[in-house]
This record gives sequence, structure tokens and C-alpha cells, in this order.
Amino acid sequence: MRVVRLASEIDFEGWRKAARALRAAGAPPDTLIWTVERDLFEQDAPITAATAATATFTAPAGFLNLARQVVLNRSSDRFALLYRILWRLERDPRLIDNPADQDMARARDMAKAVSRAAHKMKAFVRFRLVEGAERETYAAWFEPAHRVTEATAPFFARRFSNMDWTILTPDACVAWDGERLTVSEGADPADAPSEDAQEELWRTYYASIFNPARLNLRQMRQEMPKRYWRNLPEASLIPGLIEAAQNRAAAMVATPPRPPSDRVLKAAQRHARDASFGAGVPSNLEAVQAGVSLCRRCDLWRDATQGVPGEGPQNAPLMFVGEQPGDQEDLAGRPFVGPAGELFDAALAEAGVPRGRVYVTNAVKHFKHEPRGKRRLHKTPTQAEVSACRWWLDAERRLVRPRVTVMLGATAALGVMGRPTRVLESRGRPHALSDQSQGLVTFHPAYLLRLPDAAERASAYRAFVEDLRLAGRLSGLV
Ligand code: URA
Repeated sequence: MRVVRLASEIDFEGWRKAARALRAAGAPPDTLIWTVERDLFEQDAPITAATAATATFTAPAGFLNLARQVVLNRSSDRFALLYRILWRLERDPRLIDNPADQDMARARDMAKAVSRAAHKMKAFVRFRLVEGAERETYAAWFEPAHRVTEATAPFFARRFSNMDWTILTPDACVAWDGERLTVSEGADPADAPSEDAQEELWRTYYASIFNPARLNLRQMRQEMPKRYWRNLPEASLIPGLIEAAQNRAAAMVATPPRPPSDRVLKAAQRHARDASFGAGVPSNLEAVQAGVSLCRRCDLWRDATQGVPGEGPQNAPLMFVGEQPGDQEDLAGRPFVGPAGELFDAALAEAGVPRGRVYVTNAVKHFKHEPRGKRRLHKTPTQAEVSACRWWLDAERRLVRPRVTVMLGATAALGVMGRPTRVLESRGRPHALSDQSQGLVTFHPAYLLRLPDAAERASAYRAFVEDLRLAGRLSGLV
């Protein structure tokens, strides 16, 4: 028996050179032991990449690409399997296209498992802020099903090129400092940093969007396999949520919609007396409130619990415009009180802008949704619905006369400026609005909550807070 020792568990180049030399020397597969261990018994001098450097045997490119993947599989026989295939290829060059061949089928399955593991790693790595680090640094703990850490590192470097991060895995750690990728030895789970506030926010959101009526454990496990749960901030909620799901579903069905208050009903009656819908221009915010509750300018009122007008002081120097009320806003009759509202409140507080001194409203005043089981799923309003509702938004802006209007997302920008706008291209700088006041376009809080990756979410959230701070300054509130 001959021992072939490779430099590491993923030493593809070493395997290739050694295999080439052994193949050229006519060494049959069953006379070899492939290893990366140092202390295995050795009868002959081990073959290494260095001693194999002079051999000439070459293999088809298709096989080498497959082998590159297979080497990352955790199966202990992978190097031997690949050499066996290489050995057989000389006699049967069409072996790699033979679907019935067992060695080839196994190699393909192994490569497929590796590519699945890489895909899961890209989807489920969650970065956390490292507390107390000198520079702002993120780190993630992850346990890939196969040894794909180094292979996926360039993906993370491209995706998070402008921040410092480290991914710790039991196999290897990879780090990016904004310029270079470095690889070091595998880590202990204890080296993973603790949870941070961003994750708390994410968990709150996950709990609120978790749909008990649509609970499908099989699908959930497929999409987010259990072995990855412990790496995800939201996963700690899953067992409790599943347990409570039945009760929550029943409670959701039993919750009656909240009727409009007496004050709004009275104002609505007054308004209905004084003006036909859409014809009478509201002269104060109470009239807007009343008009919204009776509005029939488009069909969205039919499925909504109530119209949700804006709220805040009539002389607010700063106005925020969202898209439309969500599920919780529709029930409560107030804007931004659900999960997106929680994030909005947190960002406002961080930017030093008091919510009590700003006016908060939406481009569309009724909740547009479609039923999915027992749940009401948000639907984006059409351009026609946004146009119909501009009547109320314009009235609010005319009455409040804010110095600055912040448009939270593309629908809000469409409502305020009357034209489609790309948020990423327009955010971060003031725009002159038709009434000579200033407008700022920024992210919608629900967009931030939907970003699946913690680091991307954290960086978008920081930009969002910066935008709110700028709005606070421009309006004179901060
Ligand atoms: N999303 C919005 O755009 N507005 C709300 O009021 C709530 C969620």
C-alpha cells in the first residue's frame, strides 16, 4: 500500500498533481491510501504534490471541474473515488457521460451536495456586529454541510465589499478587510460574537409576519433546513411560534375590525353634508380624516376595514409619506403602528427626530390586500390608485405645508411627485417639490425588514437613519 498525503482536506491541486503522477506511473487505485493526516503508517515515502511535479498525464476538463467540487465533499473516500474514475478514464474515455456508471453517479451526487451546501451558505450566513472591535466589523458563525467556506468567500467579498467581516466555521475562517480575503484555521462556536440589536428588530419582524394560518412545517424545513436554524436570529422564535400557531390563528379570525371613532363618524357626516365626495376641497385635517373614511375615489375601500388618514400636528415642519396602511394599520386606523412602524420609530429615535412633532401619512389611504387562507397579504397599489388618492395627500400637504416631505419608498415618491422614481438613485439628497418645499426619497421601512441578509440590512438601516437625520436638519427639527 502506498500513502498519498495531501496538504489539506480541500487540496484539489495536490490531489490533481499526485493523481497525475500516479496515473502516469501505472499505480492501480486499490494500492493507494489517500489522506491528509500526518501520523498514518507509511511504508513507502508518501507521494506529495512536490514529488509529483514532473508527471505528464492529463484528464478531460469536464472531469477536473467535477473533481474540483467533489473534493469539497465531506465523504472520506472522495480522493480515492476520483482517482478510480481517473484510472478508468484511460480505458473508457466516455465514462464521464455514462449515466449508469456507479462511480460517476456517486461523484455527481457528491458534487451536487457540495453545490447545495454552497447555496445554503450564501443564503443562511447571518452577520452580527462584533462588540468592542476597533473598526466596525461583522462576523458570522456557520456550519456548512460540506467544506465550501473558502469556495464561497469570493461571493461574500463581492456582496459585502465595503465592510469588514469574518465568517467562522469549524473547517476554516475567512475574513475580508475591504481589500483582501484571508483564510485561517477553523474556529470554535464560542468565538462567534453575541447577538445585537439589529437581530432583535429582525426577530420582532419575523414574529409579526409569521403566518400561523399558513404554517407548513415540511415546506419551512425545506426552505430553512433545521441544521441552519441555530445560525439564524429568527430561528430562536420558531419553536414558540409553532406552539402558539393554532391559538394565534383562532385569535386572528376572531378579532373584529375596529370601527371608526365617533369623532370621525360625526366629522364624516358633516363632510358628507357639506360636500360631495371629491368635490369639496377639505379646509382642515379633520375634514381630510372624514373624507378619507368615506372615500370612494377608487375601489380599495371595499375590502379595507377603514380609511387611514395621516396624523400629527397641523404645523409640522416635517412630513413622512408611506405607501399604504398595512394589516395592523387597517385595524387600528392609524399609520405606521405595525412592524414597519416599529422600525420607523426606532430609526426616528436614533436620528433624534421626535415622532410627536412630525406628520405621518400614506400615499394610499386604504389597505390593498388579497386573501391568502385566513391571512391578508399586502398588494402594491396601482398607479391609478395612487393617482386617485393624491387628492387626499395633496390636501394634507397643502394644509400642513411641511418644509420637508420624506417619501418612504417608490409608491410614496409616486404619490408626492407624480412620477416613477428609483429609490436607490434618488435617496440621500434633497429634491425641489412643486410647492417649492424640499423632498427627500428614502427606503420604505418594510423594505429594510424584508432584506434577508443581516449585514445588508444593517447597512441599509444606517443609510435610512442618516436620511432621517438629514430630514430632521433640513426641517429645523434637529
Ligand atoms: N406601510 C406603510 O407604507 N404605511 C403604513 O402605515 C404601514 C406600513
